[in-house]
Amino acid sequence: MMNIETIADQLAHIGYIVLEQPLLPAQSTQLYSRCQDDERQRFQPARIGRNAELRQLDVIRGDMICWLNDRDGIDHDYLVWMEELRSGLNSALYLGLFDYECHYAIYRAGAGYARHSDVLSGRRNRVLSTVFYLNNDWQLDDGGELVLFAPEGDGIIDTVTPTFGKMVIFLSESFPHAVLSACKPRRSIAGWFRVRNVA
Ligand code: OGA
Ligand code: MN
Repeated sequence: MMNIETIADQLAHIGYIVLEQPLLPAQSTQLYSRCQDDERQRFQPARIGRNAELRQLDVIRGDMICWLNDRDGIDHDYLVWMEELRSGLNSALYLGLFDYECHYAIYRAGAGYARHSDVLSGRRNRVLSTVFYLNNDWQLDDGGELVLFAPEGDGIIDTVTPTFGKMVIFLSESFPHAVLSACKPRRSIAGWFRVRNVA
């Protein structure tokens, strides 16, 4: 399904990796069925910051999110897969990854997420970011790309089209990034491997 050594090697040397089709299409299709906002109130507007600073600011971040639930079979299978990745990467890279959290995200047409870092200020415990894309028939001119920036300055390292079944993994601290707006709804699962809180 996925060679953890290859992933570890590329993370160690380049800091990120794009996997074209790491899951079986049937599993991706099941995840797509869970990333639907039709049951009222399962998805909530994403917010920025933590606790007292929680804010909702459409200008910066326009997605609706729903955290995965381990009691759901489809979500559970995804979390099991991420657990394999977590323990494999710990063995290969001694990252000390302690746990994983992830949510479905739906960006409506026109919504994006401005340049940001996944490492929340005051909480430097997110080490690796993952994004798994759930967009069938995505065309190049539909937009919605993930743009990875260089750690300093405006240099663009890569631009990733969010096509169905693709996964991106990157070092959270090394890559500020942005989600460009798309002309139709854009679905994904965004997640973070964490170490024990160090801040
Ligand atoms: C995020 C994020 C990227 C993407 O949720 O923090 O940056 O491509 N997502 O959806
Ligand atoms: Mn992010």
